[in-house]
Amino acid sequence: MYPAVKLTGFAFFWYNYFVVCVVLAIDEFVRDIAETAQFVCVCFQSAHTQTIFGGLVMKGSTIPFDGTPEQEKQLREKLSELKTKEGALMPAMQFAQELYGYLPFEVQQIIAEELNVTLADVYGVATFYSQFSLYPKGKYQIGICLGTACYVNGSQAVYEKLQQLLGIHSGECTEDRLFGLDATRCVGCCGMAPVMTVNGDVYGKVTPDSVEKILAAYSSKEAR
Ligand code: FES
Repeated sequence: MYPAVKLTGFAFFWYNYFVVCVVLAIDEFVRDIAETAQFVCVCFQSAHTQTIFGGLVMKGSTIPFDGTPEQEKQLREKLSELKTKEGALMPAMQFAQELYGYLPFEVQQIIAEELNVTLADVYGVATFYSQFSLYPKGKYQIGICLGTACYVNGSQAVYEKLQQLLGIHSGECTEDRLFGLDATRCVGCCGMAPVMTVNGDVYGKVTPDSVEKILAAYSSKEAR
């Protein structure tokens, strides 16, 4: 009798242990899915600036292109050096991004012409890899964390307030290029959630009201 009771207790313990592990794994999985879905929504929101360019409907900046003739000369020289090489598209786009800070439509078209590929090919690569940006960065680049700890502490409301104040979505920058906005994942300061960064400076426990004051401080710095 005694060994049977012992065996039942042992089985009961391991059964409960197994159930707890499964529940924790499911919980983690659901959190990951929720965070990713949140992020995908943010990315889709920024698709509102679509432009028809070179016969393609392309997502990108509506801020006028201000590339200089010197930049174009440098780009074309680099492209003519690369075009005989295999797999030239990625290094060409990386060079262009470094040169301009982003990949506007006009630059994508130059790359397509010089490398003898279609604009759709260039645009496809530019939108597939996160290292490429279709929007210029702001002088003050704001990051609002939508990671789990920040999200449960109200970062979505702060993000909405920033969008409303700046008139832009994640990945975009204001017409005067003063502010850029990025919705980010965890930036490693969860104890201060919700967290906002401006050019790497960290602001913790931000609220929709406090971000208005933070932005005003940066704007007034420019006005001086
Ligand atoms: S979740 Fe925002 S800093 Fe970690």
